[in-house]
Amino acid sequence: MKKLTLEKAKVLSNEETGTDSGIFLLKLKIDNLKSPLIRPGQFARLRSLNGRPFPRPFAIARVNGHVLYFYIKAVGDNSSNTRQFARLEPGVEINISGPHGKGFEPLPGIKRYLLVGGGVGAAELFPIAEELIRNKIPFEFLQGAKTKKGLIFHDHLLDNGVWPDLIHDIWEDDPDQPGQVTDLLEKALAERLPDQAVIACGPKLMLRKVFDLCGARNVTCLVSVAEVMGCGCGVCHGCAIKMIDKTYRQVCDDGPLFDAYQIDWTAFIPKPPVALISRSRKKQPNGPLKTILYGQERRRLILNPAPVMIASGCSDIAADHQAAGAIIFKSTMLEKKIGNPMPRLCELPCGAINSIGLEGGGIKQVIDEYLPILKATGKQGIISIAGRTADEYGLIMKKLEQSGKLGRAVIEVNISCPNDDRAGMSFGVDPHDTFQVMEIVRHHASPNRFIILKPTPNVTDIVVICQAGKQGGADAFTICNTLLGTDIDIETRRFKLGRGFGGLSGPLMLYPALYLISKVYRANLGLPIIGSGGISSGDDALKHLLAGASAIQVGTASFSDSNIVEKINSRFLEYLGENKEAEHIQDIVGMAQQP
Ligand code: DHB
Repeated sequence: MKKLTLEKAKVLSNEETGTDSGIFLLKLKIDNLKSPLIRPGQFARLRSLNGRPFPRPFAIARVNGHVLYFYIKAVGDNSSNTRQFARLEPGVEINISGPHGKGFEPLPGIKRYLLVGGGVGAAELFPIAEELIRNKIPFEFLQGAKTKKGLIFHDHLLDNGVWPDLIHDIWEDDPDQPGQVTDLLEKALAERLPDQAVIACGPKLMLRKVFDLCGARNVTCLVSVAEVMGCGCGVCHGCAIKMIDKTYRQVCDDGPLFDAYQIDWTAFIPKPPVALISRSRKKQPNGPLKTILYGQERRRLILNPAPVMIASGCSDIAADHQAAGAIIFKSTMLEKKIGNPMPRLCELPCGAINSIGLEGGGIKQVIDEYLPILKATGKQGIISIAGRTADEYGLIMKKLEQSGKLGRAVIEVNISCPNDDRAGMSFGVDPHDTFQVMEIVRHHASPNRFIILKPTPNVTDIVVICQAGKQGGADAFTICNTLLGTDIDIETRRFKLGRGFGGLSGPLMLYPALYLISKVYRANLGLPIIGSGGISSGDDALKHLLAGASAIQVGTASFSDSNIVEKINSRFLEYLGENKEAEHIQDIVGMAQQP
């Protein structure tokens, strides 16, 4: 099939279908459009306007000369694709590809159709209706929406000679006769004639109901389905839909219309939310957020008022940490240390890469200057340590204990700093070295010192590293530090960081972090996880908890949002309010399940 691959289209008009309907009729002009190539039921893809990777598929609602019609429902926040499409002004040029999909051919032996459209789904049925008119095949058009405004206009159906009495509307908030389009279908099927077929397009749950109604009466049923779509041309196999014969078909190439009797509906319909049934979690303090992390040998870390912290190296310990559960220090080495050559920071669209290199004043500065500041705040402190040999880690621990100033401070053992060839990450990539470091630190620590291990994501299996850390005496894991990365300036043809590479942090890290947290959580090591990586909102933090973290750290996002900890705490409380079966924030830990 010929594609209009990445043709330019000019916006001819873009008007809301009614006051505040939120649905826009977008008319796009394509100069060299050969309309006979477009079959009813086919769709086109409009190039994403917000930088997202997948162009958005929309049913071609009408082909009128060189003009294509699309109905676009604006959903999501202001930056969403559909809201941006809704704002497109006449005259603007956008990219379009298509037509995609097989399109509709009248079915042999079918003498009458019922077209069932839910919301903007009706748009796909308009050209099918036109085709039926052309072929003089009778049909009725059933259309439903949540509100009257959500019904899309079908003027052009009327223009094409469809009798108004063949179009039946229904909407859910109609005070006189509320209902759904499936109510209309049920009624129509009760009076059905032989040789009839149903074609439906709309939300998944509506399609399922349409299929149930048809299945009960053995009526032919085609449904138009939508799945997230990658290439759009049948190559990537991303928009797969499962059939009852266990094969997968592709919406972009084999669909979007499918025989409803062939679809595996169990795989197709999203499952309901996972219930937050309070698991047998360990005892937590009164209050919904204050959290105790339970380590080995009855060691405990209390995070008050909430299990939310700013990650190591990201905030001044003297800053206001009221809302945070603990104050974390930048990693210290034994001696004063100068870091890596400049530049050390590189900003990216998706975050940042740093190659700082563990610069700092050494433990003398920590002991003499920082620990007294910590004491004055009265907050729980977490001292991050890094060494160049296992013995050096041990010595740092020994000196910290000997200072007599540690109080109830906790230690975070950094075996994951990517910015020094001999310190940090060089230990975290090997389970034996991890064990050695952890064991010697534990050896020099006072018996009830809570010690967190911070592994690196730059390994084949982080669970093996955590197991070694547990054997060495770790009480908890911070999962995870930064991934290795780099960037290049194409003008100077030089790497952007003085050291050539560094640690990637920021929003994109959310996804590797969620994976690694869930992997360690499912390994059932029996120790708490502190999630770190890519958190820049309360919802990101909730994802860490649902993946299996009992507490979280915010890093890069804290640079641009000084209230991030407060915002996360509020979101936690709000979420507990919305999900009453969870009484304490620890009730949601690890609750994410397979789809
Ligand atoms: C540094 C970087 C890290 O990712 C880390 O965990 C500790 C220190 C640094 O380069 O200073």
